[in-house]
Amino acid sequence: MLVSATEMLQKAKAGHYAVGQFNINNLEWTKAVLLAAQENNSPVILGVSEGAGKYMGGYNTVVGMVSGMIKDQNITVPVAIHLDHGSYDHCYKCIEAGFSSVMFDGSHYPIEENIAKTKELVAAAHAKGISIEAEVGSIGGEEDGVIGAGECADPAECKAIADLGIDFLAAGIGNIHGKYPANWAGLSFETLDAIQQLTGDMPLVLHGGTGIPTEMIQKAISLGVAKINVNTECQLSFAAATRKYIEAGKDLEGKGFDPRKLLAPGFEAIKATVKEKMEIFGSIDKA
Ligand code: 13P
Repeated sequence: MLVSATEMLQKAKAGHYAVGQFNINNLEWTKAVLLAAQENNSPVILGVSEGAGKYMGGYNTVVGMVSGMIKDQNITVPVAIHLDHGSYDHCYKCIEAGFSSVMFDGSHYPIEENIAKTKELVAAAHAKGISIEAEVGSIGGEEDGVIGAGECADPAECKAIADLGIDFLAAGIGNIHGKYPANWAGLSFETLDAIQQLTGDMPLVLHGGTGIPTEMIQKAISLGVAKINVNTECQLSFAAATRKYIEAGKDLEGKGFDPRKLLAPGFEAIKATVKEKMEIFGSIDKA
């Protein structure tokens, strides 16, 4: 069932668990995440970066693929298609194309401009029943060529953005995309606590879900995180399984070169990773 992410995240915040956002890159990825969610009876958010949207053929293609798959595979759990780290223009494109949720990442603008653009997009998204995420404080690491420093958000700025009527808020708390360096200082729970105190019931979003120790994830959930984004970890498990298949020479045997066979181990690996994350996030049987 294709829905906005508002209700699933409000329920998650009230119930002290988090819904996973798993980024998709192709048909196999999409099917793996949707089937994992259905088997776990868990709500799920499919994240689509601008780069992945372009790679898959465009936003209309993504909406068509996901909607068709929900129907054909009898997916009854709540599913949101969400633009990840969207620019101002691409938020409009996704709203038009039929996404059920968008993230406007205005974190690199001065706060006044972030506020003005977010406010405008809140009205455009809500006019179509679409949920909207905004970001304060850039998230470190590299995402589609955009490199953030991993700063901690200013809680007062978070409140100013939260008050614009957004549905959930991503705030930098020392998290970064991709693998964490060995000398990573960890998440700033002090910042998270201050943000949650000022933003009340607003579901908070933790980006950079790959490689954060389980205890830190659980503490973040206890302090108001209701959505956790995972991308790199699915890529790593997909790549490892595919490499293992090729190195075993299976692609040279019989019909091993058939793309349906070649991509099958990667598909299973993503499905297993997603299921494992849902267990850690506590979203199983919450559909
Ligand atoms: P990772 O790639 O670190 O899992 O982060 C994903 C993310 O935050 C997408 O917005």
